[in-house]
Amino acid sequence: MQLQALQDLVHTTRDARRKQTLPKFPAAERDQLIKKYHPDHRENAYRLITFGPNAGEKTVRELAALLEGDSPVPAELDLTPTHSTDVLVVGGGGAGCAAALHAHAQGVKVLLATKLRLGDSNTVMAQGGIQVAITDEDSPVQHFLDTLKGGHMQNDHQLLKTMVEEGPSIAKWLLELGVLFDRDADGNLHVKKGGGSSKPRLLTCSDYTGLEIMRVLKDEVLNQKIQLLEFSAAVELLSDGTGACTGAILQDLDNKRYFVVAAKTVILATGGIGRLHIQGFPTSNHYGATGDALPMSYRLGAKLLQIDTFQYHPTGAVHPEQLIGALVTEGIRSEGGHLVNAQGERFVNELDTRDVVSSSIIRECEEGRGVRTTTGRIGVWLDTPLLDVESGAGTLEKHFPAMVRQYKRYGLDITKDPVLIYPTLHYQNGGVQIDVNGESGARNLFVAGEASGGLHGRNRLMGNSLLDLMVYGKRSGRTAAERAKAMKHGALTLEHLARFRSEAKKHGGALATHSPMLFPDYVRKEG
Ligand code: FUM
Repeated sequence: MQLQALQDLVHTTRDARRKQTLPKFPAAERDQLIKKYHPDHRENAYRLITFGPNAGEKTVRELAALLEGDSPVPAELDLTPTHSTDVLVVGGGGAGCAAALHAHAQGVKVLLATKLRLGDSNTVMAQGGIQVAITDEDSPVQHFLDTLKGGHMQNDHQLLKTMVEEGPSIAKWLLELGVLFDRDADGNLHVKKGGGSSKPRLLTCSDYTGLEIMRVLKDEVLNQKIQLLEFSAAVELLSDGTGACTGAILQDLDNKRYFVVAAKTVILATGGIGRLHIQGFPTSNHYGATGDALPMSYRLGAKLLQIDTFQYHPTGAVHPEQLIGALVTEGIRSEGGHLVNAQGERFVNELDTRDVVSSSIIRECEEGRGVRTTTGRIGVWLDTPLLDVESGAGTLEKHFPAMVRQYKRYGLDITKDPVLIYPTLHYQNGGVQIDVNGESGARNLFVAGEASGGLHGRNRLMGNSLLDLMVYGKRSGRTAAERAKAMKHGALTLEHLARFRSEAKKHGGALATHSPMLFPDYVRKEG
């Protein structure tokens, strides 16, 4: 069937679909579906890590190569610092800004270094909202249980308990800073429901929640006059010879020179690894999301957790080509949008957890019920016009203005026609192991936000990443600052790197690449 005819089928089947209620899969069927179709279960995409703190564990090949990769820093680099600070925060997204603000509030000297510009991050691209249990019908306990279920019971209980309990105070902080969350006609905060959640608990700013939060955090970092280094990428950590972190080596991206920052404590908030395009997947992530914290922490001896599980968001754009991988927010499904196959049928409860929904979409496509785009990609429909049919003309435009504009730019009107989607690499479920104050296994090295692991188990729920990075940005910032107050600067050495290199030498084929990668390899190179 021609693409136009397949699109027409979405319109002609709409009324019948509206009468349908699709149950969620029973547990056994769900587990089978995930095992067969979720990309986490493609054995040949994985390999064992040969050395370092996670030796013998498996991860995707792209990440294994980075973890076993060599530092770009020469052993003989002059380690005389050009900057000295109490707390060094690496990363200019939500976690980095929150960490820097909370550390600064403790009265210590803070330096925030970021690879791109302040705010360039996945946070600024977050659409769907931040989960916080603030209504009378809801509670942190309920939030805890939903998240645990969504994470297949593999979440770190202590990290999760702390996050859900601190949610309401985070919302209050953001409101005080000036975040304009959506409100109802009476002026009360409006909450929406996300996939896998039993209660409406998402605070939103239309479909650009992250942009609004980042607007306020950026302003605050600038207002507080926190020392800021943009286009300065961390490439290696420094240690005192006993394994404690004492600073970092950064690269000035303008002139490519390395420089040294001495710090009593370091917080890595560099985000996730979407731009590694694991298994060839397109991604919803920003260009700097190359997982810089992971190889740096690993070389210093910090253990990583759950690095065999990644989130493929069910609804990434597959048409037009310019939008490949771009996020089409879960919010559209939360407000009733149907997923529809080439036969005009729904095939999954759209508000099931993301791993279930993504696996179902992949199944439809692999079993011949997907829709081919004009460029040969495959996907299924997301019935966007349904929202206006259900809730009145103008609903999409009002609730999802950024999404409507995103498509309008390419001549597509999602209020009139459905869009084609397929899972897109969205989030690293695991990361550096941390304690409830964000400290990693390496002393005085803290990790916050997507770079850290354990909290979300094997599948993160919508809106929990924004809360995670606020809570653990705050806790790591405060703890790193308190720690810094009580100590002197440590020695600046690369002893950990010498040890790592000698261990690597014992393993043939190691150190084949340099890490961190900083940018995906298709980014235009100079000269
Ligand atoms: O679909 C979304 O808006 C994504 C939200 C999230 O990953 O938290």
